[in-house]
Amino acid sequence: MLIWFTLLAGLALLPALLRTFKPYFFQDCVYMFHALGFGIRLIKYKRRSPFYSIVDCFLDAAKKHPHKTFVHFEGKTYTYSDVERESNKVANALRSVAALKEGDTVALFLGNEPCFIWTWLGLAKLGCPAALLNFNIRSRSLLHCFSCCGANVLIAAADLRDAVEEILPALKEKGITVYLLSDEHSTDGIQSINQKIAEASDKPLSPSLRSNVNIKTTALYIYTSGTTGLPKAAYVTHERVWAASFIQGVSGLTSEDVFYINLPLYHSAGFLIGLVGSIERGNTVVLRRKFSASQFWDDCRKYNITGMQYIGETLRYLCNTPTKENDRDHKVRIAIGNGVRADVWKEFLDRFGHIHVRELYAATEGNVGFVNYTDKVGAIGRINILSKIFFPFALIKFDIEKEEPVRNSQGLCIPAQRGEVGLLVGQITKRTPFVGYAGNKQQTEKKRLGDVFEKGDLYFNSGDLLRIDHDNFIYFQDRVGDTFRWKGENVATTEVSDILTTVDCIEEANVYGVKVEGHEGRIGMAAVTLREGREFDCVAAFSVLANYLPVYARPRFIRIQNSLEMTGTFKMKKVKLVEEGFDPTLIQDRLYFLDLTRKKYIPLTREIFNSIMSQDIKL
Ligand SMILES: *[C@@H]1O[C@H](CO)[C@@H](O)[C@H](O)[C@H]1NC(C)=O
Ligand SMILES: *[C@@H]1O[C@H](CO)[C@@H](O)[C@H](O)[C@H]1NC(C)=O
Repeated sequence: MLIWFTLLAGLALLPALLRTFKPYFFQDCVYMFHALGFGIRLIKYKRRSPFYSIVDCFLDAAKKHPHKTFVHFEGKTYTYSDVERESNKVANALRSVAALKEGDTVALFLGNEPCFIWTWLGLAKLGCPAALLNFNIRSRSLLHCFSCCGANVLIAAADLRDAVEEILPALKEKGITVYLLSDEHSTDGIQSINQKIAEASDKPLSPSLRSNVNIKTTALYIYTSGTTGLPKAAYVTHERVWAASFIQGVSGLTSEDVFYINLPLYHSAGFLIGLVGSIERGNTVVLRRKFSASQFWDDCRKYNITGMQYIGETLRYLCNTPTKENDRDHKVRIAIGNGVRADVWKEFLDRFGHIHVRELYAATEGNVGFVNYTDKVGAIGRINILSKIFFPFALIKFDIEKEEPVRNSQGLCIPAQRGEVGLLVGQITKRTPFVGYAGNKQQTEKKRLGDVFEKGDLYFNSGDLLRIDHDNFIYFQDRVGDTFRWKGENVATTEVSDILTTVDCIEEANVYGVKVEGHEGRIGMAAVTLREGREFDCVAAFSVLANYLPVYARPRFIRIQNSLEMTGTFKMKKVKLVEEGFDPTLIQDRLYFLDLTRKKYIPLTREIFNSIMSQDIKL
């Protein structure tokens, strides 16, 4: 029956396809054929009983090719059966020491290392959702992220002990159990668990332990800084895990490929598209703690890597390395990612040879996504009939000054014209749900937009401004308002301003991102007012920010103002500030620059400005 459906759908689509997509007809067909195949698998998984989860997929892979290498990491290799046994040990150990049971959420605070994989798998075997904490965050943010997923157990890497100890009093107060993946002795409040894992049985776990898991249950919590405030824990259901896992397949990767993961596993790119995608394909993963431009191609050659992931910044870092004779000596054939600028994309291909770049667009919690499957430089995706059927979306006119959609006299939104920039919204339906954020009804509501084209309809507000050209290619333009992106991380401006205002001398702060020539994204900047009679304290401001925020989120520029401009609805005005940037010759206000080596803010002189523009000062 499904086969008939496919064929019929294919035939029915054909005339329309020929009409609309002639120049890209073949690529559209190949893509849609692939996508349909995966769509059908997803439908099958939805109906299958008992539920077939990514854990079952891993178990099948481990049975099929137990001795195949699953993970290369820092010179060590782990086969599928190694990872299977390790994850059983973790699960058995946690079952006995923590009495974990199905449905208990456990927060993981780990860097990119193999034990991330088997600890997560072990939890999944027990039917426990894992909350993937960003290992760069500390203190207040860390505590916030931990608390909002509702976990009672925290598992942390040994090298993150200090960060855990910093919030330990608060964790103790809440009665949280803390395990450290370490051989050291347990201390008050922290239990070292490596010994227990080493001694635990590697016997497989009975599937009955996770018998209530189904396609709609939460598999993971992944943190996003969608629009405002502290990071939010997005529910990632098993349905979403499956859908994301298909991206490798849709992009053309197979079980023969060797896939390079150097993005953090706490983000959906590294975890879902990278790791889970590789489990779905049954291929080999090369895992790295951290992206390194200088090691990148050596790794590719050493491990015969054929598939890679990027964010816009990483391709540029690769292009910025000194050219070498062996630049094209590698087997990488497919790159999956998002956020690359068209000029970098071209340069990357010119220099490193013919690699199929699969630029995609998707939000962890969103209900729309696109893949650029045609090799057209610069675009993030393409409209085709399938995308319209599977995730109905629209671009609507958006008022950048007011930061809200434009509405007509009936209070409805207005579709953006072809070629015009608009806000991407995805209709919320049964098939394209928006589950929202854990413990944050208010933020969940904020992402829902009603009365878009009809009274009573409901859309997911992506917060992203896109443009669709006359050939149906989709281009990313900008992100709205309260978030900016720097070094591949989303920075929530309100979180940064909350922290800035804890600096003694600062009264109010308005945080935004500014463009710097030659860099992807926007770098952090803050316009602040000072408390009466106070001077800007260059050292204190640095130390507060360094204490509470990861490097990428700290404002590199500070602009001192006498008052901050507000909108009619008492939101701070940003658009003008963003446009004015940080050029000291154009701005009368005092400007400061964060000097990371001197660990303080220094006045932003024209010399410093010029060195930044000529890239003598690295940002
Ligand atoms: C990479 O491929 C070469 C040649 O096909 C092979 O000799 C080598 O063992 C491979 N390396 C790895 C790590 O698989
Ligand atoms: C898709 O990627 C190719 C490069 O691989 C690029 O030329 C093309 O513009 C992209 N198209 C879209 C829609 O992103």
